Amino acid sequence: MRSIIVLLLLNLLTDCSVSFTAKVPPGPVVAHVGSTVILPCWISPAQNAEALEIRWYRHEDFRYTVLYFQHGKIQDEQEETFRNRSSLTPRSDLSGGLKGGDVSLQLEKIIIQDEALFHCYVNGDSDYSSAELELKVTAPGSAPVLFPRPLDDGRLNVSCSSSGWYPEPNITWTSDQRKTLRPAAVSLHRAADGLFSVHSWTTVSPSDAQLVSCSVSTTTGESKEGKVDIQGFISSDSSDLWKPLFLTLLICALLGLAGLILYKYRNILTGKKAAGPDGENLPVQERKGYIEVQMSDNAYENASVPVDMNIEDLRKHAEQITIDRENISPDLTVSGDCKSVRDSPKYHHTAEEFPYQLCAFGAQQFTSGRHYWELELALPPNPPKLSWLIGVVKHKHFSGKDRSALTPSRGFWFLCSDGENGFNTNTDPPITLSISPRPERLGVLLDYDEGLLEFYNVKERKHLLSMHTRFSGSIVPLFNPGVGDKSPLKIVDCPVEEDSPAELTVPSQSNCSAENITEA
Ligand SMILES: *[C@@H]1O[C@H](CO)[C@@H](O)[C@H](O)[C@H]1NC(C)=O
Ligand SMILES: *[C@@H]1O[C@H](CO)[C@@H](O)[C@H](O)[C@H]1NC(C)=O
Ligand SMILES: *[C@@H]1O[C@H](CO)[C@@H](O)[C@H](O)[C@H]1NC(C)=O
Repeated sequence: MRSIIVLLLLNLLTDCSVSFTAKVPPGPVVAHVGSTVILPCWISPAQNAEALEIRWYRHEDFRYTVLYFQHGKIQDEQEETFRNRSSLTPRSDLSGGLKGGDVSLQLEKIIIQDEALFHCYVNGDSDYSSAELELKVTAPGSAPVLFPRPLDDGRLNVSCSSSGWYPEPNITWTSDQRKTLRPAAVSLHRAADGLFSVHSWTTVSPSDAQLVSCSVSTTTGESKEGKVDIQGFISSDSSDLWKPLFLTLLICALLGLAGLILYKYRNILTGKKAAGPDGENLPVQERKGYIEVQMSDNAYENASVPVDMNIEDLRKHAEQITIDRENISPDLTVSGDCKSVRDSPKYHHTAEEFPYQLCAFGAQQFTSGRHYWELELALPPNPPKLSWLIGVVKHKHFSGKDRSALTPSRGFWFLCSDGENGFNTNTDPPITLSISPRPERLGVLLDYDEGLLEFYNVKERKHLLSMHTRFSGSIVPLFNPGVGDKSPLKIVDCPVEEDSPAELTVPSQSNCSAENITEA
């Protein structure tokens, strides 16, 4: 009899005293500018939180409320900046949501100003509890651009710049074998939108190093590196204008890597279990959030996400390019409007190597100014082409059949996608790049006077690669559609309006004869 009474009492106790503690994961949550993030918070022991009062606020003050939930619904009491950007969202599929005591906060379109210590406060009839969680915001800046200039004493002044970083980035210089170089100067600048740009220079003697690299990183784990081969830049034979060549590689692969690291990092930090081996099953909004960082077009993100290139600016230099029918490999087929080229159906390539001989040239020649053109590499529903070579060539240097003849000193500059072998440039030795995702539309900018050739992923609005050189004589666009792809390589005329579809109409130029263009 006694024991029954005790049991009853215990029951009463657990039913009435709904005591709980608010819990958050240890450590900060890190989020990309523009992304969507969940700040996890739950009550323990788990119980239904629908009847509780839930308040998320910042700066230790209810006036800075992010989200307020009471009487079973979200109340209209919050800082203006969080309006329409905040919600209560389960931290995982298994949490049971509010019914299971999960009071996690979701924030969309993260901005730098969101960074703060957040409080998760839960109040019931007989108990309340709160917990603190730090949100750190991060923005990966642009890939560093290196620029070497010769000094009178035979050394080089190599400068490095990059922008769009948050928090404050750190710059490190290294030469071959990871030897650290000392920067002569580092300057940081903070723009009105809160993002940092960094500029640094150092001097290096060509006898000491071949590759100089500059790496910019943040404490939040973002990192990007640029490299320059300074050997190509020094010339013993000054009569050859093609020798003083250097190539700046902007390793965009690092962007993807940083993203991946951040994913894993965030999963750990938010206390979430990675749902699949590769985060394959991450909630859609999270995946989407990451992509938004690069593709977003909202006003502040345009300024703050530097990978978001302004393609419209490039298109101001757009040229109508056609293929020169007269100088073309017999193994290629050109469309009637001279805009598309592909390997002819009769052509069978057996060698392992890329079919370098399948070259086609632009009918336009450039001897000065800036010029821009775009190529379509995916004809839906086909996947993006695997095999292509795109760049420029010095007029009449059309001899090459094998790789060794296609060097910058012979007047070739290009980026090549060699199927499963990945992407490479025609430096000696070739440099392999990983570019992800595979471009569906490629933009090419030729700045003749600056000696610059740049490649862009138009769809992703991403800068891929810059090559620095010195041009002389006339320069023509170079195309090679490779072999075996379903889609042809197609020159598209840039849309005049930002959102009008690419027009494929061509000025009536049926013979596609060669022409000279000297100024944009
Ligand atoms: C929030 O959304 C409502 C309805 O969609 C809209 O009327 C309002 O302007 C939005 N507020 C802000 C600050 O964006
Ligand atoms: C090196 O170049 C930077 C600009 O990138 C310039 O500010 C600096 O003065 C130069 N240093 C020397 C020694 O010329
Ligand atoms: C920058 O990186 C260097 C080398 O890794 C390190 O010694 C230094 O403390 C870092 N500075 C900042 C501000 O993070």
